[in-house]
Amino acid sequence: MRIDIVTIFPTFFDVLDISLLGKARQAGIITLGVHDLRDHTHDRHRTVDDTPYGGGAGMVMKPEPWGEALDGILDGADDPVLVFPSPAGEVFTQATARELAAESHLVFGCGRYEGIDQRVFDEYAGRARVRLVSIGDYVLNGGEVATMAMIEAIGRLIPGVVGNPESLVQESHEDGLLEYPSYTKPAQWRGHEVPPVLLSGNHGAIEAWRREQSVARTARVRPDLLP
Ligand code: ADE
Repeated sequence: MRIDIVTIFPTFFDVLDISLLGKARQAGIITLGVHDLRDHTHDRHRTVDDTPYGGGAGMVMKPEPWGEALDGILDGADDPVLVFPSPAGEVFTQATARELAAESHLVFGCGRYEGIDQRVFDEYAGRARVRLVSIGDYVLNGGEVATMAMIEAIGRLIPGVVGNPESLVQESHEDGLLEYPSYTKPAQWRGHEVPPVLLSGNHGAIEAWRREQSVARTARVRPDLLP
């Protein structure tokens, strides 16, 4: 998969050198391009924002640098998906991550300030698949943290990125439920015991207990996820 990111903070994405995603890049499973939006300005101050038409607080990102940056990335690209993180977008879920993990090229456009001039979305919606995506009902200062969260969630679903694909199956949200509690050695710690069923060797009983724990936890913490 190819991932391009347009941002005014390119060094923010230096952390994609490390951990599982860093290894995936070294292995050639993920190719990353980070683009500085300010490289597509042509004034002395490298201006990317201006005051909103119609008045109001805050600044809006100007369309021209976005147009130049995205044209360069889209030129010759094969059917990419443009993802703009935005608190006004559709909510990102595990299902969204799965959909995007099946794509061959994702382009993330990180907005700052009060957002990006609407005409940028309108322009590219006519030329590519454009999605405005929110990572939750709260407001961040910009799209960078949201992009990182999405890339991590998407990246680990790409075959070869996570060592043991079995571990992807048993996680929270994959089956619509929250994950059951996990335990490792020692069997006793500070007076807390591991549930005896997990030491029983009875795989059927263990599976049933885990399922029951998942359902009970989901009902308690996230009843909205239950049918
Ligand atoms: N930018 C600001 N807030 C955001 C959010 N909740 N999700 C995605 N992008 C954002």
